[in-house]
Amino acid sequence: MAFDRFGRKIHYLRISLTDHCNLRCVYCMPEEMTFRPNAEMMQDDEILLLTRLFANLGFDKIRLTGGEPTVRLNVVDIVRGIAGTPGIRNVTMTTNGVLLSKLAGPLAGAGLKRVNVSLDTLNPAKFKRLTRWGDIEDVWEGILAAEQAGLAPVKLNAVIVRGYNEEDVTDLARLTIEHPWQVRFIEMMPFAGATDLQTGQMVSAEEMIGRVEQTLGPLAPANDGKLDGEARVFHIPGAKGDVGFISSVSAPFCADCTRARLTADGILRMCLLREHEIDLLTPLRGGATLEELRTLVLDGVWSKPWGHGLAEGEIPLNRVMSEIGG
Ligand code: 5AD
Ligand code: SF4
Repeated sequence: MAFDRFGRKIHYLRISLTDHCNLRCVYCMPEEMTFRPNAEMMQDDEILLLTRLFANLGFDKIRLTGGEPTVRLNVVDIVRGIAGTPGIRNVTMTTNGVLLSKLAGPLAGAGLKRVNVSLDTLNPAKFKRLTRWGDIEDVWEGILAAEQAGLAPVKLNAVIVRGYNEEDVTDLARLTIEHPWQVRFIEMMPFAGATDLQTGQMVSAEEMIGRVEQTLGPLAPANDGKLDGEARVFHIPGAKGDVGFISSVSAPFCADCTRARLTADGILRMCLLREHEIDLLTPLRGGATLEELRTLVLDGVWSKPWGHGLAEGEIPLNRVMSEIGG
């Protein structure tokens, strides 16, 4: 088991399969983005070796992220390998959904349990403006394919940006009336240099809840008022699904954090929003023994920061979201 200094049991690993993406969301990366060369990224066998190492330390839950994980070559085989690793009980993925209409079936067959699909608006023109390159039809087909493949319950993630889609929270929330989905609204996090967006364009979860309730009426707490992962969840009366609000910026959930992250270039990052990193890939390639790698991971977990420093104005500078894994 891997515990940190604060007694938190760390057992949830988010693995970024690539920093590449087939979209260019305005809150995530500039249109002219440069990516890491393939040789710097973990190769398939390195991902599986590190997965076994983490599983041996009690990690049982893996989420695959990016960039966009589905643009990684052999993504289905990687999922099969991870899902088949002894000790791993749950493999999920965060995706933009663009390629899901083709991949949902094969991914489910390989052992993927669920997907979170990013969808920030239902308006095709706004979707294009937010993602720069995306076609909302592809994502919609991907969501339906995911549901059909049994990657359920489907969760949809919407990052809300003032001046882009703050008016769209109501339509997105309305989806849960007819669909047994969880639509989750996410406060935009600041990543220096990644975008031209300003901190002031962050819309707080409180404001989002207010906007939804103004149109759809009072929301009822769901999940017995407890957090579902990092989301505060509610229910529109009579709806089949739930809405969730993720206030990473205004009300961090660090106290309950059980996560670690492995970047596409094989670096262990213990907090999304802290710069502290532990390189695992260089020692692995340099011939480190499993025991040495294990010690690196355990030391890394032990050094996990208590929480992020956004409230003190501390913004991570060394990597952006697509390099860390959302
Ligand atoms: N703030 C919050 N979430 C972000 N994502 C990307 N950039 C940001 C940001 N600045 C999230 C997207 C996507 C996941 C890959 O990362 O919602 O679901
Ligand atoms: Fe790609 Fe996701 Fe970043 Fe959008 S948020 S550019 S889909 S990695």
